[in-house]
Amino acid sequence: MNHIAVAIDGPSGAGKSTIARAAAAQLGFVYVDTGALYRAIGLAACRAGVRGDDAEGVCALLPTLRLELTYVDGTQRVLLDGEDVSEEIRLPEISKYASQVSAIPRVRAYLLDLQRGMAKTHSVIMDGRDIGTVILPDAQVKIFLTASAEKRAARRCLELREKGQEVTHEQVLADMIARDRQDENRAQAPLRQAKDAVRVDTSALDLAQSIEAVLRVIRDKLHQ
Ligand code: DC
Repeated sequence: MNHIAVAIDGPSGAGKSTIARAAAAQLGFVYVDTGALYRAIGLAACRAGVRGDDAEGVCALLPTLRLELTYVDGTQRVLLDGEDVSEEIRLPEISKYASQVSAIPRVRAYLLDLQRGMAKTHSVIMDGRDIGTVILPDAQVKIFLTASAEKRAARRCLELREKGQEVTHEQVLADMIARDRQDENRAQAPLRQAKDAVRVDTSALDLAQSIEAVLRVIRDKLHQ
């Protein structure tokens, strides 16, 4: 059976995961959040006392890690050596580690098969930074989801506060701009829009409108 692949790329805080998860549920596809994989490796580095920008140190850890994606009630969980780390990988300090380890070519190569494997066995909506450009270049639908940095920081701030984390808008905005810069300027698989991706800007849209806009692009593409 041929599976359908929808690639959604874009900067952090554009709403990719919330929107992709909702769209996948509507279509009956599996939602794959690839950022969680980089976060899990970042967490492993942090726990091992290895700096995220220490490529040698991080790569030495890779053969010792067991990284798995599993689904509980349709929700993706990330297991690191059998431990569910899905919550811990969302901590702001782990975001920084994730961004740093994601710039290491061997880390990206290590995660390639795991990501492609998911798309071989399921119809997926996969979100990340290089899904349409590198991981699934033949995806039937490619979307570049974005929003202004101000809007993205405001949303992320709200999300972190709801989880009880004390953050300021300025701090979240500064972290976001720094991470965007790092993701866009790295040599390996930088964040950029695939030539054949449809751009969806959610700055002026609420969540329901954003989900609708993404579903419209997917349905239009699949019915062409
Ligand atoms: O989407 P996120 O914020 O959970 O991603 C965490 C980090 O991982 C982010 O700095 C970018 C990086 N990343 C990546 O390089 N490629 C992906 N496919 C997904 C995430």
